[in-house]
Amino acid sequence: MSFANRFKQGWRPAPLEAPTPSANEVVVWRVALETVSVKDATVLAVDERERAERLKIPAVRLAFIQGRLFLRRMLGRTLGRDPGSLQFASEGNGKPTLPAAPLAFNLSHSGGVAALAIAKVGPVGIDVEELRGDRDLVGLASRYFAPLEYAALLRLPSAQRTLGFYSCWTRKEAFIKALGEGLSHPLDAFEVSLDPSAPAAFLSIGGKQADDSPWRLFSIDFGERYAGALVAPRQVERLSCFTLETI
Ligand SMILES: CC(C)(COP(=O)(O)OP(=O)(O)OC[C@H]1O[C@@H](n2cnc3c(N)ncnc32)[C@H](O)[C@@H]1OP(=O)(O)O)[C@@H](O)C(=O)NCCC(=O)NCCS
Repeated sequence: MSFANRFKQGWRPAPLEAPTPSANEVVVWRVALETVSVKDATVLAVDERERAERLKIPAVRLAFIQGRLFLRRMLGRTLGRDPGSLQFASEGNGKPTLPAAPLAFNLSHSGGVAALAIAKVGPVGIDVEELRGDRDLVGLASRYFAPLEYAALLRLPSAQRTLGFYSCWTRKEAFIKALGEGLSHPLDAFEVSLDPSAPAAFLSIGGKQADDSPWRLFSIDFGERYAGALVAPRQVERLSCFTLETI
């Protein structure tokens, strides 16, 4: 298994000033969405406000607004810019980018937690998922996972299946989010490790051994109710992870 992530990341309190990531580093921020203030939601762009209005479920709408406020405020702090001045462009499958800024970034939220990865060298993809044992995880895995991953899931003791499923799922999502392709990228066209007790790693990409892959896969520990993963260019060696009490 190559490109194994033997890195054990810890969360540190947020520093007063948002650091600029170095070339071999990804800065990861996490926050509880309920602590994201919606006071100055006017910093959102017109298209963001229109999208929020189209979200009919209040909790989903609020999570979208808080996610975008978190994104704008942290990018603003990192760049020394007003959050409302940031003009996002969208890649073909909806990945927001900042064409005028020398930063790559990616946002994810699930179950009340939001995570943002910011890097100088990109692209990056991050995914956090709340563990849910109330879904037919084996059925979903048989549909979406590569055969090798599905077999690895079935080999896990049943007590580890939920975490195994979501470990695999977040690793796969983080990769397609790094690529920016969303679910248009076939999920069985690459293979990742799944056993929660084993390091996060690509096993193959596009039918080839992942040894020469330009990508690196990290597992991120968001606490026992969650699974999380990050994909970044191979030269990234360090994650600096910070918890915000509020933003
Ligand atoms: C949109 C997608 C890229 C991620 O979706 P997700 O895991 O539901 O959502 P996350 O919270 O991790 O990420 C959403 C954020 O990623 C970013 N994003 C959107 N499109 C993206 C893309 N194509 N590539 C990378 N990032 C993207 C945006 O910042 C978005 O935030 P926004 O809602 O404020 O615009 C896509 O992979 C998807 O639709 N996934 C569906 C997952 C699914 O069906 N899961 C079933 C599990 S069994």
